[in-house]
Amino acid sequence: MDTLRIDRRVVLVTGAASGIGHAIARACAVEGATVHLADVSDAVHEAAEKLAGAGGGIGSEVGSGSVASHVCDVTDPAAVRALVDDVVTASGRLDVAFLNAGVNGVPSPLQPGGAIDEIPFEAWRRVMDVNLDGLFHCLQHCARVMKRQRSGSIVVTASTAGLRAEPRVSYPYVASKSAVVGLVRQAALELARFGVRVNALAPGPVVTNIGGPGPRPEAAVAEWENSVPMRRWGRPDDVTGLALLLASDDSSWMTGGIHVVDGGASALTQVPSDALPAPIPTPDSGTD
Ligand SMILES: NC(=O)c1ccc[n+]([C@@H]2O[C@H](COP(=O)([O-])OP(=O)(O)OC[C@H]3O[C@@H](n4cnc5c(N)ncnc54)[C@H](O)[C@@H]3O)[C@@H](O)[C@H]2O)c1
Repeated sequence: MDTLRIDRRVVLVTGAASGIGHAIARACAVEGATVHLADVSDAVHEAAEKLAGAGGGIGSEVGSGSVASHVCDVTDPAAVRALVDDVVTASGRLDVAFLNAGVNGVPSPLQPGGAIDEIPFEAWRRVMDVNLDGLFHCLQHCARVMKRQRSGSIVVTASTAGLRAEPRVSYPYVASKSAVVGLVRQAALELARFGVRVNALAPGPVVTNIGGPGPRPEAAVAEWENSVPMRRWGRPDDVTGLALLLASDDSSWMTGGIHVVDGGASALTQVPSDALPAPIPTPDSGTD
């Protein structure tokens, strides 16, 4: 087996303007797929242009595939319906959907404003809107097409933060990604008899706009690195091998799985104790 069987496939990637989604779109283009990049940001057009040298050419067939870009907000069900219809109109079918768009941007419980009694409802809703409701809209419309085709592979970007409590990540992010895991399993159950597979990637900490050292204090960055047995943050390209496998026929008997790619971090049974906040003395303990 020289390559994973994804060439000539029609692939949609949401959240494809940057980070993990862009790396997945690029890997698919290199493998000869026809790739539709979608994102809420119009930077998606430039991101698609960058793929021209990676295997696809804007609007023109290069090898067996091509690249197209779409601005689409996954929180808008009508826009998602139009996106999926546009892909099918342009390319005739939809073989693979990487449902990857996601946000965080809310403080963790360890940061000011991130405790359960402090998070504004609007911040909670913003994350749930994209990470959970947005995924729901995408799943609905991709399933509509793939059920009719009697084939397809849906690959959702979940997170290791959806597999256990994670004090360094916000409430709505953990809650949304936990719900994503359930949604993936439930959709896999329903869609199996239509020949449609649904799996999730669960990355650990990856350097992107959402993850990565960013403006974190030095100690927090070191602490994150120390929680990964391979002792480094992931890079978007670390996720693409698994993504291609789940998209291709080489995983034809895999569905309903949540597949971790995290440098070994979730092999640990708990986050390192220096990631946990110290106990707060009770008012009557006399220790404050
Ligand atoms: N970086 C990490 O450490 C990490 C770890 C686990 C899971 N993830 C998940 O990976 C996925 C990709 O994130 P990333 O880390 O590459 O970050 P990123 O910010 O680089 O990419 C996310 C993309 O989603 C797009 N997006 C946001 N809201 C959208 C909307 N409403 N409609 C359409 N597109 C929208 C953004 O514009 C951006 O291009 C997300 O689902 C994220 O939760 C990231």
